[in-house]
Amino acid sequence: MTSVEDLDLPAGVSPTPLALLLLGRGSDPDSERGVDCPGGLPDASDPSLVERARAARAALGDRAFVLGHHYQRAEVIEFADVTGDSFKLAQQAAARPDAEFIVFCGVHFMAESADILTSDRQQVVLPDLAAGCSMADMATFDQVEDAWDVLADAGVADVTVPVTYMNSSAAIKGFTGRHGGTVCTSSNARRALEWAYGDRGAEKVLFLPDQHLGRNTAVLEMGMSLADCVLFDPHKPGGGVTPEALRKARMILWRGHCSVHGRFRLDAVADVRARIPGVQVIVHPECRHEVVTAADQVGSTEYIIRAVEAAPPGTAFAVGTELNLVQRLAKRHPDKQVVFLEKTVCYCSTMNRIDLPHLVMTLESLAAGQVVNRITVEPETARYARAALDQMLALP
Ligand code: 13P
Ligand code: SF4
Repeated sequence: MTSVEDLDLPAGVSPTPLALLLLGRGSDPDSERGVDCPGGLPDASDPSLVERARAARAALGDRAFVLGHHYQRAEVIEFADVTGDSFKLAQQAAARPDAEFIVFCGVHFMAESADILTSDRQQVVLPDLAAGCSMADMATFDQVEDAWDVLADAGVADVTVPVTYMNSSAAIKGFTGRHGGTVCTSSNARRALEWAYGDRGAEKVLFLPDQHLGRNTAVLEMGMSLADCVLFDPHKPGGGVTPEALRKARMILWRGHCSVHGRFRLDAVADVRARIPGVQVIVHPECRHEVVTAADQVGSTEYIIRAVEAAPPGTAFAVGTELNLVQRLAKRHPDKQVVFLEKTVCYCSTMNRIDLPHLVMTLESLAAGQVVNRITVEPETARYARAALDQMLALP
């Protein structure tokens, strides 16, 4: 494994404590990322994979419930009992008390949330433990604790409520719950902020870990200005913000982003408008503020799916979200033109870790009585994280 000391970083830049692993190369003993798969992983070229997945799925019957996030590969979505964005999948996991196994085809933070929301009798399984999320890794528990100390030193911690995006580790959700905050997803970020500033009486929100979702929601949906937001950089002393700036701000944005949605650029919007007259540009709120501002519509993955479905035949869409979903939308709506907003390929590499061989290995192992790749959250963390997740599920 590449150690942080081996990284060639410019002067003044400190590495994230959880250095990202090159996919499939080495393993990190402090986390589950990059671990080898237990049992035999079938070859991707095995012609009987679909057959094997069907047989193992049938053998498991109601004992298993398979959840599939919209960004999963088509070969995996085919076996999902329900598909959805991270909010819908959290609700679905909570609503299946009878399923012994929740097979989560998504990423690690989603499986953690499912484990927190399900009973101790149920086991949540992630078909490939290396399916993490680079955004979630951008906020570690120690960094966030240090940031809270900075807010306390500036005299603002008492009037600040943490709101964390679902795309964060259980430890960060636990921190949020312990400080009376809430989790949110891209479908309810506005309601979460309304609750924080309203019922919860916050003067300020510490929004973790996606600066773009935080900024876009604050400015485009809550009527704040860019000047109401400050960016807290965990790699800089004091977050790189003065105590005065923290005291003035209403939104304290964590410096994190999605490596997939962060790729969409403003010139792609201009390009597609020139290429396809009348095109509707629709993007996810994890995209940069200038891209979201230039788009015609912005919304969560569920919102994007519904908008394309509801449009009359002949409508053209340029979609700024993960490529598996955009390809699926294009296939599902041959009467509409659905194109990808960027010219470069933009799959989420960690979502793509879950493929048919990993699904087959998981389902066959479970059917044979061997539980592989179980995701469990330590009880104390789970208790506080559950409070923040329940608060989200209770949002009006
Ligand atoms: P949603 O599922 O909330 O739209 O989030 C998108 C995402 O990036 C999931 O990892
Ligand atoms: Fe994380 Fe972005 Fe991938 Fe979602 S799309 S799992 S936020 S890297």
